[in-house]
Amino acid sequence: MARKKIVAGNWKMNKTPSEAVALVNELKPLVASEDVDVLFCVPAIDLVPVLEAVKGSNIQVGAENMYFEESGAYTGEISPNMLTDIGVKYVIIGHSERREYFAETDETVNKKVLKAFEHGITPIICCGESLTQREQGITIDWIRQQIKIAFQNVTADQAKTAIIAYEPIWAIGTGKTATSDQAEEVCAAIRECIGEIYDDATKEEIRIQYGGSVNAGNAAELFAKPNIDGGLVGGASLKADFGKIVNYK
Ligand code: 13P
Repeated sequence: MARKKIVAGNWKMNKTPSEAVALVNELKPLVASEDVDVLFCVPAIDLVPVLEAVKGSNIQVGAENMYFEESGAYTGEISPNMLTDIGVKYVIIGHSERREYFAETDETVNKKVLKAFEHGITPIICCGESLTQREQGITIDWIRQQIKIAFQNVTADQAKTAIIAYEPIWAIGTGKTATSDQAEEVCAAIRECIGEIYDDATKEEIRIQYGGSVNAGNAAELFAKPNIDGGLVGGASLKADFGKIVNYK
């Protein structure tokens, strides 16, 4: 079964609600595609206006984070019910920026992944190594560990629908993209790891994105790799270039 590519924008902490609507209206005609799933992951406060603005288009909308409890005294957090109530079906979990600045760990990532599945929200599970880890030659071991913990108690049927984003930390926002061979090597190792945890069917179905300085110039080469099923795009998702990334062929 051929996996459908998924190209997602991660807006990070950019765009006010009114700017968000303007950006959606600018990008809507540029990201039209039948071959590729297109997803905009936007700040929580932009979700409602962006969901409204994408109506009638091929654009799907995701959150950038979610808490692992249902409700309660967790000031500032967003619950899975809040996301499903407004029609959000995807959430980024465990981005390296959340791990670095907001104390997320492999264990909180696992809790959030389980909670997302419980609510029928598809998690985009982020993993990636630092430059030091790459230089030490421990990239694959590190990523396998992240994946094994993230998928604890996740069933094969759930895992099949998950999306993994491999984002080397040294390539994020630096303009320094992993080469397509470097990205493919790790994405292939992630797929092997999923095959070990589950089975061949899960290994073949799960979608694995590459993220880290993806742009209109390098998307085609990256996405042509057999184990790379699209991208998670930061900076370039905020401009017209995103249309070229979606229509990379
Ligand atoms: P850049 O595309 O800006 O490097 O960001 C990548 C990223 O972190 C996407 O989640």
